[in-house]
Amino acid sequence: MPAKTTLDDRAVPVEAVTPLIRGVGVLWRLTEAGGTLSASGLERATGLARSTVDRIASTLARMGYVRLDGRDVILTPRVMELGNAYLAALGLPALLTSHADALADELDESVSLAVADRDGIRFIHQATRRRAMSLSFRIGDLLPAERTAPGPLFATEWTAAEWQTWRERRATDPEDRGFPAVPPQPHPSPDEDFERRAARARKDGWALDDQLIEPGLVAVSVPVRDPRAGGRIACVANVVSHTSRHTAADLRDTLLSRLRATVAKMEHELREALQPQSQSQSQRGAAPAGLTGLAAWTGASKQELGREFVESLARGLTVLTAFGEGRTELTLTDVARATGLARATARRALITYEHLGLVRQSGNRAFALTPRVLSLGFPPLSRTSLPRIATPHLTELATRVHESTSLAVLTPSGDEIQYTARAATGRVMSVDVTVGTRLPAYATSLGRVLLADLPPADRHVGPLSPLTPHTTTDPATLTTTLDDVRKQGYALVDEELEAGLRSVAVPVRDRTGRVVAALNVAMHAARRSVEECVREVLPELMETAGRVEADLRVAGRFARVGVE
Ligand code: PHB
Repeated sequence: MPAKTTLDDRAVPVEAVTPLIRGVGVLWRLTEAGGTLSASGLERATGLARSTVDRIASTLARMGYVRLDGRDVILTPRVMELGNAYLAALGLPALLTSHADALADELDESVSLAVADRDGIRFIHQATRRRAMSLSFRIGDLLPAERTAPGPLFATEWTAAEWQTWRERRATDPEDRGFPAVPPQPHPSPDEDFERRAARARKDGWALDDQLIEPGLVAVSVPVRDPRAGGRIACVANVVSHTSRHTAADLRDTLLSRLRATVAKMEHELREALQPQSQSQSQRGAAPAGLTGLAAWTGASKQELGREFVESLARGLTVLTAFGEGRTELTLTDVARATGLARATARRALITYEHLGLVRQSGNRAFALTPRVLSLGFPPLSRTSLPRIATPHLTELATRVHESTSLAVLTPSGDEIQYTARAATGRVMSVDVTVGTRLPAYATSLGRVLLADLPPADRHVGPLSPLTPHTTTDPATLTTTLDDVRKQGYALVDEELEAGLRSVAVPVRDRTGRVVAALNVAMHAARRSVEECVREVLPELMETAGRVEADLRVAGRFARVGVE
């Protein structure tokens, strides 16, 4: 078994919480597997007994971090709240990502931000371009320092002990099998190469990656120094390209100056943030929303799941979410207060996390999350999309109401909707559309919900052709209808698209309140009256939209979630 996200050789502290270690192990194995493993796959990957795997999976499912689908255990977007806690506490994405995104647009090349993670680098942001010829990493991916451009820059700050750790890792894992994000390396370079690159990086203030990861992949990097940390490197900004567009030398000659200009803006941003940072220190200890009532929740979970609920795992995981924006460093007292856990419980969880490398002591009896927290589910989920987030919720809704459900967006021209996700029922007579199908927006419930969110001047509905005797064909009537849809929060279309077809739709909103998609239930008119539709189906639909929106809020906080 190759060593992946494993522990140091250090002995497990006596106070460490075994179920928490096992639960984290399950999350690691699921992450490495791309998000899904069968229970027996987990049994093999963790070496745990099946009954233990089942109890951990039930507990994680209860927390909303995985869902159980037949024999499969699947990470859910909700697990990203762990990585979000780290990224929010770090504070860098909030300050720097708009600058990285602007540079990516300016250069039409991918731009990323990476932090140091022991002798590796871990990505905290990716502004990627869609191209056939590009291998791009995901937020949370860990790379060996010596095969990257940021690596030598971080190494300029390594202590002798850190260099030693790096040499030992190279000796025990020469092919980089402990870094699942990179292709293994059959012919490792000598240590001296990296030592030379680090010396060079110290002199130059920038570094290159000339196809160290894969043939074709090149990068140039510049450190972003944090005045709040005495000018130490906070993160490294990278421009990534392909040799078909730029050689490594080319990157240095043509794009380095623009990367440097962006880094200057980023450093200015960090200086500006000095003030708010110290103010927010005073907020330390205030409980973040959502953690109150933990005791009641734990009690109910125990009642419902009995032995299948591993309380110490659930309690331990909440400790990570005590950290967040303006809550970078927390004392044991802060953590206990924020989570509502007894001090002794919080302390044992922190000791466990320190052992797992997820938490470090940051001077003065305070604790902070480490970048490794991103290894808990973030990489596979940071590339998710709204249809993927919505699908399990659509399936559940379809099962509950025994009708087919769909998700759709407006096409760029704005006069049509396009189905992006769907869950059908087993009924013989069910509404028959597939993902990708386009229909006129004005005559569908999905379309009306999407149009209703637009300012009237931006509603490009095109000619209103009568598709059935009931179709609204008068523009003024449609405008009134859309205004009503906006006010009511739903659209009901009764046999206007097709005779015998009735459907009801609600909006799905992103973190900013913008409608990004619409969700509907469609059925044959004979099955439910209009009134029954509103009374029975609409509440279910709204609840489902709420669940999709909750997932989207978590997933979209630091990662970009595509609507298609
Ligand atoms: C990336 O962002 O994908 C990246 C950055 C630096 C490297 C390689 C890849 O050296």
